[in-house]
Amino acid sequence: MSDAMDDEFDTLAGWTADAVDELGPEYAIPAGCRGSGGPAALGWLLEHLAVTASDRMLDAGAGVGGPAAFAVQRTGVTVVLAEPEPEACRAARHLYDLEAVVAPGQDLPFGDDAFDVAWSLAVLCTTEDKDALLGELHRVLAPAGRLGLLVYVRTTDDLSGGPEGNVFPSDDELAQLLDGAGFDVTGRQDVSDLPPDDEQWTQRGDAIDDVLERRHGDDAAWQTAQRQTEAFGGLLSDGRVMGRLVTAARR
Ligand SMILES: C[S@@+](CC[C@H](N)C(=O)[O-])C[C@H]1O[C@@H](n2cnc3c(N)ncnc32)[C@H](O)[C@@H]1O
Repeated sequence: MSDAMDDEFDTLAGWTADAVDELGPEYAIPAGCRGSGGPAALGWLLEHLAVTASDRMLDAGAGVGGPAAFAVQRTGVTVVLAEPEPEACRAARHLYDLEAVVAPGQDLPFGDDAFDVAWSLAVLCTTEDKDALLGELHRVLAPAGRLGLLVYVRTTDDLSGGPEGNVFPSDDELAQLLDGAGFDVTGRQDVSDLPPDDEQWTQRGDAIDDVLERRHGDDAAWQTAQRQTEAFGGLLSDGRVMGRLVTAARR
């Protein structure tokens, strides 16, 4: 992972947990869902993956763990987090008391067929080794297991000014990757067509950012993370990158 991504995903994760401690537990889930969007996207995935309390669920590339905590709160599912950044795992344990193991998605420390459902949100574009990540997800899912993805796809080859270290697939590449890994696509949704997240959710996320900026605004890691976020926002706002939700079934 690049240094910029370490700043964005590891250093910031620890600071985020501290900011929630300052503001209160109701800020924990919005604070921890910064890569994946909010209730509309997560709710769409939970519904289309038909997640229930009896499922065994994996969140691969879980970050701080907000999406996993949202899944638990909404469905009562048992979820395990895998995430390569140690600070992010620590933050997930601290904020939501979730089981979190330090591991890249390409080398998951779980047996074959260990999960009924897995999701990986805004992760595929952070790694070159997409085949291996999807291959591991296929291995740890039970037969007919369900996979949910949030993937940022590129709509053009011109990604100048974009964030460091990201490798965005095209829609066609994503379809080929899923087919090659042994998944049949069962559902698709453009994130931009979902309703906006409610005001309280957005305000809580903004309040976390205000605390982070007040405490760490002079720190180089904060400034790098902000540059990464702004560069990514630029690609999204001019449509060079778009968010896709995809559900798939393991063949
Ligand atoms: C944009 S964040 C998304 C975090 C979380 N899924 C969410 O939606 O809030 C991308 C995450 O992918 C993780 N990541 C990067 N490379 C990875 C890999 N090879 N396997 C699994 N996760 C990875 C990063 O550490 C980071 O936490």
